[in-house]
Amino acid sequence: MKDRQNIHGSWASRWVFIMAATGSAVGLGNIWKFPYIAGENGGGAFVLVYLVCILAVGVPIMMAEVLVGRRGRQSPINSMREVAMEADHSPKWALVGWIGALAGFLIFSFYSVVAGWVLAYVAAMANGDFLEIGSEQAGQVFNQLLSDPQTLLIWHSVFVVLVMAVLMGGVNKGLERATKIMMPALFVLLLLLLGYSMSSGSFGEGLDFLFHFDPSELSWNAVLVALGHSFFTLSLGMGSIMAYGSYMPKSASIGSTVLTIAALDTVVALVAGMAIFPIVFANSLDPAAGPGLMFITLPVAFGHMPGGQVFGFLFFVLVGLAAWTSAISLMEPGVAWMVERFGLKRAPVCIMLGIVVWLLGIGALSSFNFGSDIALFGLNIFDFLDFITANIFLPLGGLFVALFAGWILNQRITQNELAIAVPSVYKAWSVMIRYVAPLAVAAIFIFNLIDKLG
Ligand code: PFF
Repeated sequence: MKDRQNIHGSWASRWVFIMAATGSAVGLGNIWKFPYIAGENGGGAFVLVYLVCILAVGVPIMMAEVLVGRRGRQSPINSMREVAMEADHSPKWALVGWIGALAGFLIFSFYSVVAGWVLAYVAAMANGDFLEIGSEQAGQVFNQLLSDPQTLLIWHSVFVVLVMAVLMGGVNKGLERATKIMMPALFVLLLLLLGYSMSSGSFGEGLDFLFHFDPSELSWNAVLVALGHSFFTLSLGMGSIMAYGSYMPKSASIGSTVLTIAALDTVVALVAGMAIFPIVFANSLDPAAGPGLMFITLPVAFGHMPGGQVFGFLFFVLVGLAAWTSAISLMEPGVAWMVERFGLKRAPVCIMLGIVVWLLGIGALSSFNFGSDIALFGLNIFDFLDFITANIFLPLGGLFVALFAGWILNQRITQNELAIAVPSVYKAWSVMIRYVAPLAVAAIFIFNLIDKLG
């Protein structure tokens, strides 16, 4: 078959694709969420299960998403339709792309609010607001920020504009250029912070916490949290990786590329943990502090350490960059689809979609102040958005992609795209995508529903 052309452009090289997809994967999930859920779920035992989930479920599904994207060479909605039809199946598979694009909007609306907190902390750190501060005061600073809708709105708006500005530039002049600048900056900052934590934190204690495996610490719930998180952290189940895959050069090998991305994402999460926990321990703070670990615990630690103001500032810049490159990928499926469907230029599409997510975000940020009384199924708007995306949309999207690649596409298509030379490796992927991944994802999906709704 003649290779389709993508009207949006394509990455200059395999390496650019790796950087862009890693930019999507590495985000608040790695630096904010991973350390606190590892902290809450017993450290080392959790980390091991998480690694297994990345390899057994995350990698095969990511390969499937890239495969479909590159085969279809369009937005996820249209790629799903096109590739389904190529395999003589119903064009209704496009619905999976629709669920994904919708999930991208919903995730963006609360992701942008958290990214807004990060930007506010960049300013606060630069200002020295946390110097010599105690935990209680740091908690007050955070709560004060949450209760002030105007400030939240300003930072949320700044973040939406930053993301849309990159998207407007298109695949090469926007996404690719931003990736090439931001990803190296992100890695340099991360290493700097690791060095800082090695020299001024309780490094041994931090490492022990993350890597000491004690099976008795492992709960069934921790396994499910790890499985769900492996999904979120690799940006799977909503089309981001499929969209990025549609810009991937045909000559690049999907398997080794995806393994590199998953490895980089994992390394960043682990290094973020290695940078954060030694600082937490050196200051006798609680590793299981929950979501406040980054916004309350860590600023207290930075406020008491030599050079803490500078490194605290750099830390939040790092998190901001990571959130930025992820948020771009949340919107790309929707932007690409609008351009294809209506023949519009990217600029008007980005402005329109920017306004939509900006409005949705106002709903999310109101959960902490004027809208705190609004309850959807017993959750405030922010928690509701988080819940339905992480527990319903992403697992469902991932499940369908796995079923699609494993059972709907014929071997001719998958083998041609994956181009795996060793038959046993292809066979292993096939077993993973047909049985292991769907069963594991179905398990999280059902468990979460029973747990939350029951
Ligand atoms: N992977 C991102 C993170 O770990 O923060 C979040 C994310 C981005 C999820 C893009 C889903 C997505 F499509």
